[in-house]
Amino acid sequence: MLDAFVADLAEPGWCVVPDFLSDAETGTLRAECRQALSADGFRPAGVGSGQARIRSEIRGDHVLWIDESQAGPALKAVLEKLEALRLAVNQGLFLGLFDVELHFAVYPPGAGYQRHLDRFRDDDRRSLTVILYLNEDWQRDDGGLLRFWPAESVAPLDIVPTGGTLVTFLSDRFWHEVLPARRERLSLTGWFRRR
Ligand code: OGA
Ligand code: MN
Repeated sequence: MLDAFVADLAEPGWCVVPDFLSDAETGTLRAECRQALSADGFRPAGVGSGQARIRSEIRGDHVLWIDESQAGPALKAVLEKLEALRLAVNQGLFLGLFDVELHFAVYPPGAGYQRHLDRFRDDDRRSLTVILYLNEDWQRDDGGLLRFWPAESVAPLDIVPTGGTLVTFLSDRFWHEVLPARRERLSLTGWFRRR
């Protein structure tokens, strides 16, 4: 799996990995996410870097930044899998990925995220985006699709946020958007950064 993953990131620069997590792993991680949600740990996501502004018309999700030292067992296991990806990518592509910043994200019904790139204008450390969906039994009609443009001049793909699926892409290259969700939509999203 790692070889194919690295090859896809070399060209075309993105890939979707169904069943990156098993149903059991996804379920446990979803429970950890829900627990943090009920403990009121989430805040409206901001736009931009540094002192981010809240602009719910641009993005309506709520996020909880992950503190790795506080991670539960399911999250720890995922962190290990992501670390293996980081090492494989560094070996194969020389991206110099140094660390990862991660948050849980919850989109309440009606929330989406307008078309954007993940790299900030004033901070180019974010290099590789990883999105891991935690949803149970998500249907196309539930909305919340990830609309992803593989290139500027082609029609976008709509990716269903099925639990256990990993989506990854080079952060500075690919425009994407989250269509409004019709039910609560959960994910763990992160960015591998260089120094
Ligand atoms: C993001 C983002 C996409 C998704 O958080 O920057 O684009 O499918 N998320 O959750
Ligand atoms: Mn994004």
